[in-house]
Amino acid sequence: MTQLENTDYITLKRSVYGEYSRAYDEDRVRFVSGTALAERIDWALGPLQPGKNLLDLGCGSGRLLRQAVDRTGGKSVLTGLDLTPDMLALARSELGGDATLVEGNVAAGLPFKNQSFDLVTSLNLVQDLPANAVSSLFDGVYRLLRPGGTFRAVIPCMAERNQAAELFREMSQARVAMDFRYADDLRRLLMGMPGFVGASTEFLPSTAAANAAKGSVRFTLFADILGDIKSLGLDPRQVQQGVIFFSGNRALGS
Ligand SMILES: C[S@@+](CC[C@H](N)C(=O)[O-])C[C@H]1O[C@@H](n2cnc3c(N)ncnc32)[C@H](O)[C@@H]1O
Repeated sequence: MTQLENTDYITLKRSVYGEYSRAYDEDRVRFVSGTALAERIDWALGPLQPGKNLLDLGCGSGRLLRQAVDRTGGKSVLTGLDLTPDMLALARSELGGDATLVEGNVAAGLPFKNQSFDLVTSLNLVQDLPANAVSSLFDGVYRLLRPGGTFRAVIPCMAERNQAAELFREMSQARVAMDFRYADDLRRLLMGMPGFVGASTEFLPSTAAANAAKGSVRFTLFADILGDIKSLGLDPRQVQQGVIFFSGNRALGS
């Protein structure tokens, strides 16, 4: 990314997530149910034990870190990184001093020491990255993991290929630089990331686009896109989203 593109990218993302942060936690449980969110966080934190260190990339309002505090009882170093000051403000009020919060852009590198984390998580972040930043993110995470450590990522994607889904992808990319890859493409990309052992992906359908279409969320970006798709004569119900769960380890002894 050039310096100018980098500045534009940061400004755009901060503005999108600054807007989203106004009702972030309320909207999240309307996009995806509270139960589904809790299950995703539980899955991501599966390998976390008291005394193990965690880094959450794109930590948003700090919900995952809050769960991590409860699981580890003050025995672990917990760190969150996010690009958007408004999101970090929410996380600060959620976490107080229970976790270290860092402002940063994962597309520009990860400002932590090599092999300093046992678990790195990222929920709903990878779709925000420029295409060329995804492999460097995985390289960076691998570098930060201790041998035997785990990276767990939950990544929104498109469940099905059709004309409405393709328009949704194009409009999300053009308006907010979000890249909702098709599930099969995303799986292939993730399974090709070098270094990780025991890598796996699992796909689950998501209610996010369908619930946005109902218009019950305050963050109207996706409802607006679905409205535009409808006005072009297509059925917005054809826009089906999903999530991919990626898990991979740094080999012991590596
Ligand atoms: C969809 S939210 C997800 C937040 C949280 N992980 C969750 O699941 O609720 C995406 C988050 O990633 C952050 N973000 C977007 N691009 C980023 C980047 N390049 N570097 C760091 N954080 C980024 C946004 O500020 C936002 O808080």
